[in-house]
Amino acid sequence: MDYLKTQGVDALNGTIKISGAKNASLPLIAMTILAKNRVKIKNLPHVADINTLLKLLSNLGAQCDFLEECVEVDTSSINETKATYDIVKTMRASILVLGPILSRFGHCEVSLPGGCAIGQRPIDLHLKALEQMGAKIEIKSGYVQATAPDGLKGSNIIFDKITVTGTANIVMAAALAHGETTITNAAREPEVVQLCEVLNKSGIKIDGIGTAILTISGSGGKLIDIEEFSIIPDRIEAGTYLCAGAITKSELTLTDVEPKHLGAVLSKLEEMGCTFTSTTDTITIHPTQEIKPVKIVTQEYPAFPTDMQAQFLALATQANGVSIIEEKLFENRFMHVSELQRMGADITLNGHTATVTGKTKLSGTDVMATDLRASSALVLAALVAEGETNIHRIYHLDRGYDSLEKKLEGVGAKIQRLKE
Ligand code: EPZ
Repeated sequence: MDYLKTQGVDALNGTIKISGAKNASLPLIAMTILAKNRVKIKNLPHVADINTLLKLLSNLGAQCDFLEECVEVDTSSINETKATYDIVKTMRASILVLGPILSRFGHCEVSLPGGCAIGQRPIDLHLKALEQMGAKIEIKSGYVQATAPDGLKGSNIIFDKITVTGTANIVMAAALAHGETTITNAAREPEVVQLCEVLNKSGIKIDGIGTAILTISGSGGKLIDIEEFSIIPDRIEAGTYLCAGAITKSELTLTDVEPKHLGAVLSKLEEMGCTFTSTTDTITIHPTQEIKPVKIVTQEYPAFPTDMQAQFLALATQANGVSIIEEKLFENRFMHVSELQRMGADITLNGHTATVTGKTKLSGTDVMATDLRASSALVLAALVAEGETNIHRIYHLDRGYDSLEKKLEGVGAKIQRLKE
C-alpha cells in the first residue's frame, strides 16, 4: 500500500489546475446507459471511483474506450443487468446504475451498497421513489431486485430528505419513463445540474434545473442520442486546495475552476481572514496574516458542503480562537479528529459538533486516512506540522483526488508517495 511522506512547509506558491468533478462524473457515466449512441465524455478526473464505475459498466457488457482527450462509452452491448457485490462494495455510488438500468431494461439487480466510514448511507429514498414510479422492489440476499416489465411511469416524487445521488437516480429513471415526473425537494448541487443540462440538451425536456422542483418529460422507453460533454470542475478539489493556500498562508492560483460553485466555501474563508482575486475560471488566494476562527454548519448546496467539513476543521486548528463546526448530514464524519488530535490539535467532540481551539502547533507523526475527505484534512495538517508526517491508507485519497501529491509538489510542498 502507498503512503504519503510530508514535511511541513513555510509557504506554497504557484498554480494548480483543477480536474473534472468526481461527483459529476459518476452520474454522467451512469447516464450513458440511457444512450443509443457512443457517448464522448471529456475532462473525466483520473481517480479510482471513475475507473470503478467504468469497470462496472464493462462488466455489464458496455464498451469503454480511454482515448487521449476523452473516454467513449457505448452501452448498446450491455447484456447483463446485475451489479455484483464485489464491485459495489468498493464504491457505493454504484447505486447510480439502478435507475437507468431499470428504466431501460425493465429489471435490475444491484448489491446493497452497505454503509461506509462516514455513515449508514441508506438508499430508502431511491427505492421508495422507484416504487412510486411503478417498480417492484425486493431486497433478497443483500441485493436490490427491481423489476418494471412495462417500464416506469412518470410520477410525483417528494423526497423526505434532499439526496444528491437519489435525485440523480430518479432523474435518469424518469428520462426514459412513460409520462412526466416531478421531483420535489430535489438536490441542487452543480453535479445534479450538469446531469440535467446534458439530458435536456439531448432531448429530454427538464424544467426547474438548479431548483428544488424538477419536471422531467420521459421518452417512453426510447433511448437518447447524447451529445458529447465535458465534466464541470471539481468544486471540492478546488476548495481543498484553497484550504491548502489558507493554512500555509500562501499565494495560490487555481485554474479551470468554477468560482460560482464555491460561494459558501469562499465566504467562510473570507470570514477566516482570506482574500481572493477571481476571474470566470480562476481563483487566486492571497497570503493571510492571521487566520480567524469560524462557525460552520454543513448543509445541502448552496450552503456549506459537508465534503469540505474535514478540510475546514484542519484549517481551524491554525485559527486564533475557538471554531465551532457542526456536521448535519452524516452521522460519523469526524474520524479525522482523532488523527488531528494525535498531531497536537485541540478539538472537543460533542455529538455532531466539533469545538476547535487554535492556534495549536501541530507535530508530524504517522497518521491513518479513514475516508476520502478526512485524508485530505490530514494532508492539510501535515503541510503546517513541524517535522515529518506519514499518511497511511491513502487509497481513500485516490478515490477522489487526481494526482494530489503531484499538484501540491508543483507548488512547493514537500510530499512524496512511497510504498509501505
Ligand atoms: C453525495 O452522496 C456525494 N457522493 C457525497 O460525496 C456527499 O457527501 C453527499 O452527496 C452530500 O452532499 C456522490 O455524489 C457520489 P445523499 P449521497 O444521498 O448522494 C440521507 C465525497 O466525499 N439519505 O445526498 O450518497 C443520507 O444518509 C462523497 O465525494 C437517506 O436517508 O448523499 C444523508 O444523511 C462523500 N436515504 C443525507 O440523506 C437515502 O435514500 C444526504 O445523503 C439517501 C440519503
